[in-house]
Amino acid sequence: MSKPVMTVCITGAAGQIGYALLPHLCSGKTFGPDQPVKLHLLDLNIEGVQTALNGVKMELEDATYPLLKGVVCTGDAKVAFTGADAVIMLGAFPRKDGMERKDLLEKNCGIFKEQGELLNTVASKTVKVLVVGNPANTNCLIAAECAPNIPRENFSALTRLDHNRAIAQLAIKASVPVEQVQNSIIWGNHSSTQYPDINAATINGKKAKEVVNNDEWYKNEFIPCIQKRGAAIIAARKLSSALSAAQAISDHMHDWFLGTPAGQFVSMAVDSTGNKYGVADGLIYSFPVSCSNGKWTIKEGLEIDDFSKEKMKATEQELTDEKKTAMEILGK
Ligand code: NAD
Ligand code: LMR
Repeated sequence: MSKPVMTVCITGAAGQIGYALLPHLCSGKTFGPDQPVKLHLLDLNIEGVQTALNGVKMELEDATYPLLKGVVCTGDAKVAFTGADAVIMLGAFPRKDGMERKDLLEKNCGIFKEQGELLNTVASKTVKVLVVGNPANTNCLIAAECAPNIPRENFSALTRLDHNRAIAQLAIKASVPVEQVQNSIIWGNHSSTQYPDINAATINGKKAKEVVNNDEWYKNEFIPCIQKRGAAIIAARKLSSALSAAQAISDHMHDWFLGTPAGQFVSMAVDSTGNKYGVADGLIYSFPVSCSNGKWTIKEGLEIDDFSKEKMKATEQELTDEKKTAMEILGK
């Protein structure tokens, strides 16, 4: 018997990540090769944008994906969120020249407040929401705050791209295929304060730190490389990452819905409530998690050395500051 059709909503679907992500969703790569999907594609209610979105719909038809059971293009978030099983939030206000982080937060607070409130009223209580639009962690926090009817555990922000970047750099350093590298961790914010941690990582079953055996490289090359990778891609492409972001979104949703392999963990930015690793409650903080039955669980019991503690605190502080600014803007 075939599975019921799953409805996947993408906000900002006419943008560059949207274009790179749709093949993953429609081919079965993200939700499984036997999972039919219907797409709700939301973008700004502006004629040129909606025309472009309809062009994407035409391409999806022409691609003849057997699993694709319908595409709705809309400029109305209410239509987009109604009936969605998963919402992937790409739509955000981009940082412009001369904009401070606070200005960016201010613009995005408005978007994520409005969309959070709409999710609260029209979306299913079981919807799973992934926020990608930057500043992703705090945008996610705002959406979750504005949607109290939906459990906080149903909200997450994307740090899987940073996680995958860490795996790639370890694989390059050790000259091994990427699939031999596991259990690296991104702690904290999807920003340059994030802490890419390889203390629990393995390469072909051995401790990555021992395989690489180069603390100078780890601290002075690897960590800054991962922290600044997004900016390096913008500098090179004059556009932010899209192909790799789409792959990471697909990996994140795949693992959340279908589970992580036994013994492995991945990075997801999720509700920090519960004093895990001493992180303050009420942030959307990236942790190592494993997933099963559609639920994430923070991996507990990992040893945290003093160097890691300091890095984890620094990124926590940035998230606390962003939250304070966001709450001031929201008047909460
Ligand atoms: P893009 O500018 O190509 O596309 C964004 C789309 O969002 C546009 O089509 C725009 O019209 C739409 N949009 C803006 N406001 C909207 C709203 N209120 N409702 C619906 N749609 C709206 O950008 P992109 O390259 O696709 O990137 C999307 C976001 O993802 C950016 O904020 C980017 O910084 C972020 N990003 C995050 C990560 C991560 O790892 N978390 C990685 C890469 C990019
Ligand atoms: C990335 O990590 O590639 C992006 O978040 C960078 C950005 O600012 O869009």
